[in-house]
Amino acid sequence: MAVDAPFEPDVQQEQAARLNAQKSAAATAAAAESGTVILKIRRYNPEVDDEPHWERYEVPTEPGDRLLDSLHHIKWQMDGSLTFRRSCAHGVCGSDAMRVNGVNRLACKILIKDLGDEVMIEPIKGLPVEKDLLVDMEPFFEAFRAVQPWLITEGNEPTRERLQSAEDRARFDDTTKCIMCAACTTSCPVFWNDGSYFGPAAIVAAHRFIFDSRDAGAEERLEILNDREGVWRCRTTFNCTDACPRGIQITKAIQEVKRALVFRRI
Ligand code: SF4
Ligand code: F3S
Ligand code: FES
Repeated sequence: MAVDAPFEPDVQQEQAARLNAQKSAAATAAAAESGTVILKIRRYNPEVDDEPHWERYEVPTEPGDRLLDSLHHIKWQMDGSLTFRRSCAHGVCGSDAMRVNGVNRLACKILIKDLGDEVMIEPIKGLPVEKDLLVDMEPFFEAFRAVQPWLITEGNEPTRERLQSAEDRARFDDTTKCIMCAACTTSCPVFWNDGSYFGPAAIVAAHRFIFDSRDAGAEERLEILNDREGVWRCRTTFNCTDACPRGIQITKAIQEVKRALVFRRI
């Protein structure tokens, strides 16, 4: 005689139901947190504007949105003429530095929820504005190139890689992290007043090679930075260190270059 199997709850179905309930609770919570933010953006189109002006956008937000998401919302849904640079969207390429509520930030690295209900966005300061948030980076790159940010070596090419101890590598580790976003240089009051100052980013690039035990160009670079527009213009304001999205101890690096110049010892 056939016997009915005892009733057993379908474990898989139960798990799926539990997962759905969790998802819908999360969606409800997210919907409750969704809102809007006011972005006030400094706009300038040299083809039609005599002066820059502010434009105001009310943008819907989701929890987890970054400033870059909101700028994309404006560009793709509200006003395609808004111009700004971005590429990686993950804090790596360094192309979306902008002045946010008066402080230089990367738009892809800040959450909208941390910026308040109204956010003021301007181009980084001290470089010529080409359009809206887009600046001409050439003066910045010119200073960068001037310090020769590449390995300078002497003698014959070695037949194997140039070895370096872990301690020697650690000496310049911090300054290898630079992504050339210009947030430091364009937050420096000395650079605002005199665009010929090399600026902290170029000094960081020089530091990375000056303190590399495999490099033979330290003297040359130190002389370049001994210029009247070089390291001595730094007033130890620390704006650069505060602005760096990579957390590089820029002011400390500048001090190390100054010390190397005074004592002529790396
Ligand atoms: Fe950007 Fe920091 Fe490099 Fe300056 S040092 S360019 S703030 S990553
Ligand atoms: Fe400027 Fe940084 Fe020196 S902000 S003054 S380069 S410490
Ligand atoms: Fe690349 Fe922000 S878009 S760092």
